[in-house]
Amino acid sequence: MSSASSPVVFEDVQGLVRFAHAQLTRALYLLVRVKDAQLARQWCAGAPVTSAEKTQPPPENALQLAFTAPGLKALGLSDSILAGFSEEFLSGMAGNANRSRRLGDIGASDPAAWTWGRGTQLPHMAAMLFSRDDLEGWRRTVETATWNSAFETIARLSTTDLGGVEPFGFTDGVSQPEIDWMRERSDVNEQAEYAKVLALGEFLLGYPNEYGQYTDRPLVDPAADPANELLPAEDQPALRDFARNGTYLVLRQLEQDVRGFWAFLDRSAQSDPAVREELGAALVGRRRDGRPLLDATGLNDFTYEGDPDGNLCPLGAHIRRANPRTADFPVRPTGLLGRLAMRLGIPTPGFRRDLVAPSRLHRILRRGREYGEPLSSENALQSAPPEEGPRGLHFVCLNANIRRQFEFVQDAWLMSTKFNGLTGEGDPLLGNRLSIAGGPPSDGYSIARAGRPARKLEGLPQFVTVRGGSYFFMPGIRALRYLARGGRDRS
Ligand code: HEM
Repeated sequence: MSSASSPVVFEDVQGLVRFAHAQLTRALYLLVRVKDAQLARQWCAGAPVTSAEKTQPPPENALQLAFTAPGLKALGLSDSILAGFSEEFLSGMAGNANRSRRLGDIGASDPAAWTWGRGTQLPHMAAMLFSRDDLEGWRRTVETATWNSAFETIARLSTTDLGGVEPFGFTDGVSQPEIDWMRERSDVNEQAEYAKVLALGEFLLGYPNEYGQYTDRPLVDPAADPANELLPAEDQPALRDFARNGTYLVLRQLEQDVRGFWAFLDRSAQSDPAVREELGAALVGRRRDGRPLLDATGLNDFTYEGDPDGNLCPLGAHIRRANPRTADFPVRPTGLLGRLAMRLGIPTPGFRRDLVAPSRLHRILRRGREYGEPLSSENALQSAPPEEGPRGLHFVCLNANIRRQFEFVQDAWLMSTKFNGLTGEGDPLLGNRLSIAGGPPSDGYSIARAGRPARKLEGLPQFVTVRGGSYFFMPGIRALRYLARGGRDRS
């Protein structure tokens, strides 16, 4: 049994939590449904899942496994264990119309039109394969003789290596939270500065999160784990923790209209290439090479405190919505009196910064991969060849609380038409441009410019359409073996 403050055991954590597998540039996500539970469990028991342990040399291939709630049930996990998972995971990404509306999955992105993610096309398991040179060979290794009898494949999500750039042409994966793996941070509840290091419990279940608390999760009576497969729950050592070292994985297939994106910017720029670039950067909040629009020493060493009116980076830019960066307090307290006021909860002026909710509690670890043929902005402005294939992002993010992390970022920040005091706008990249609750269409975009009149772009088309999506649980490796043994709390 580990002590309450012991660092995490990397051999039990799936590798994707710690590594983006960047050197494994080829990837394929197989979305499957269980055909034969017994054979599926047998396959899971022997699956060559990659852990978060560092190896020298690094692996040439990797496999990560994640399961939806119906998938865990199909594999035989008992209802009482399943009931310990969060409501949003159990209900699923497309589980009710209210959730879909909040996530912006309406109109062209309505789950009714998804190619996978609901009804008989709801996956049970995602097998995520990564390879340095031989993805096809790795697929054959993973798809053992048992595989075809155990599973039915409903989608094969292929990916393309665009060299760290997403399909619109901007460097992706620049800003990521860092995990306090060694649990060295002691000041969790007093932190007043924006910081990228976050509590382990924000990304792994079974550990304290940014509130200093353990996220609710399924705990198991030891009698139901006679083989001693599961680790004890840190906060309730008499029980075993099915979720320990696991995390929730959000997968969304986001199709990007690269031609539409550049055509709109070209029109708005009256075909001036320099203005086109400037407008593109204003939508994202970074230039194509990843440099932020604010003065910053490094790519990530900034907050928006010095730019309250969005003169440098527009208030609704994608990166400003996705992570407003403001620390957990309306005004950053300085000196002894300031800290005292903060501890006593005495409010201090700071209206603008109070408009955005605390970013420390709403971070996600992005692990997505692009798909489709590359298309430069120049070629995007030429006419399309017949039969052009789709392109976009297989958006993946990891978090310990889907509601407070992914869903909050998606609905309270990205999709909100009132974010940061704005009106009639959604996220410039992701917005569905529809009117929300009888309001105006959300197809505008304001660009403030110091000393010059603000520029307002009107009639933004929808650039991103959701084609599928599901909430998965990516278990720790011991919990995966427990699941493979039958995962029941009554023998
Ligand atoms: C096709 C869809 C998307 C595209 C093209 C896109 C593009 C980008 C780009 C270019 C950046 C800046 C570089 C970086 O920091 O990585 C970025 C940052 C980010 N995006 Fe997206 N994104 C998409 C979808 C999403 C979604 C669905 C979410 C969350 C629900 C999201 C959350 C974030 C976050 C959290 C950041 C980092 C912000 C920061 O910490 O400064 N993105 N995205």
